[in-house]
Amino acid sequence: MKVLGIETSCDECAAAVVDGGTILSNVVATQIPFHAPWQGVVPEIASRMHTEWIYGVVEKALKDPGLGPEDVEGVAVTAHPGLLGSLLVGLHFAKAFAWARDIPFIAVDHLLAHLYASRLRYPDAGADSGKTGAADIHCPDYPFLGLLVSGGHSAICRVDNFDDVTVLGTTIDDAVGEAFDKVAKFYGFGYPGGAVIDALAKTGDSGAFKFPMPKLYKIGKDGKDHRYDFSYSGLKTAVVNQLEQFRVKKKVDPAGDARDIAASFQKTAVGILLRGLFRAAADTGITTVVAGGGVAANSCLRSRLAEHGELRVIFPPPELCGDNGAMVAGLGERYLLRGDRSPMSETASARVGAFRKRYP
Ligand code: KG4
Ligand code: ZN
Repeated sequence: MKVLGIETSCDECAAAVVDGGTILSNVVATQIPFHAPWQGVVPEIASRMHTEWIYGVVEKALKDPGLGPEDVEGVAVTAHPGLLGSLLVGLHFAKAFAWARDIPFIAVDHLLAHLYASRLRYPDAGADSGKTGAADIHCPDYPFLGLLVSGGHSAICRVDNFDDVTVLGTTIDDAVGEAFDKVAKFYGFGYPGGAVIDALAKTGDSGAFKFPMPKLYKIGKDGKDHRYDFSYSGLKTAVVNQLEQFRVKKKVDPAGDARDIAASFQKTAVGILLRGLFRAAADTGITTVVAGGGVAANSCLRSRLAEHGELRVIFPPPELCGDNGAMVAGLGERYLLRGDRSPMSETASARVGAFRKRYP
């Protein structure tokens, strides 16, 4: 079923066509240069740019594989979570497209779509193609642990299937990608911070600075179970304080230590994720992990998980880690094929919609 997927939840204006879990096109128009001067996404700019770009992005997603609007058999769109004004642009475009063509329309959750990304494949995915098309969508391997790591959300979840996802652990403050972005902002490394820190860290000494791991105990002061949760605000503060020490106490330019700071921060940030993930794997006995979200592109996270011999870890190819329309089309196709439809009254929401939190 040829499904057009539309993604406008944040700063990527994206559209793709997926057929049978195979990616026919995947167009991502990034707004990063337009938000970079503010070192963060400006919601008003984001929604305006989506409005200007969405038509051209969808047109390209259809033209790339030689399709026209008449070939599309269903439309999927991200409805939550995200920036409300941005979500509404994609949602209304998708509704209008489906209504005009009289084809089914389905709204999907952005975070579930990130977890779905590694199930997609490319038409020419083969041993020599260099493209890592992943598992067959019709042969799901349940249950698995989902490691969802993006700029706005971080969670470890148990996926029994894509309708039954239980969040085991989540961040109690900042998301992991947000921590990368904020550290990079304070140090002036660039925006967005994740890829910049990842690159800087490659030639840095990850043992140069000792940053603290959050003390999350099984039952926290709030009486809740935090055994798989994360926290990034303490790490962020420690890394930022280090900058003050450079400036005020040592009176040195922190740029000289940029690589070591990046490597030390990254090592701790990844360590926080892995601590929760390894605990969840040990407690649940689930040994397959599927990663998704922008931070899943992180080389340190990938290599440290690869070193862990007992877990089978599936990562999407790097270009499917960040926001894209293919993951939306893929998950939407799954729903549409079994007959699910969203009403034209469907609304967008800034909040997470698909998960519930349950403690094991
Ligand atoms: O999934 P995504 O594209 O958007 C959201 O749904 O939030 O994730 C964006 C986040 C940003 O915080 C960005 O800094 C981070 O992913 N990111 C990375 C890397 N590439 C992108 N973080 C760490 N290492 C990377 N290589
Ligand atoms: Zn995302």
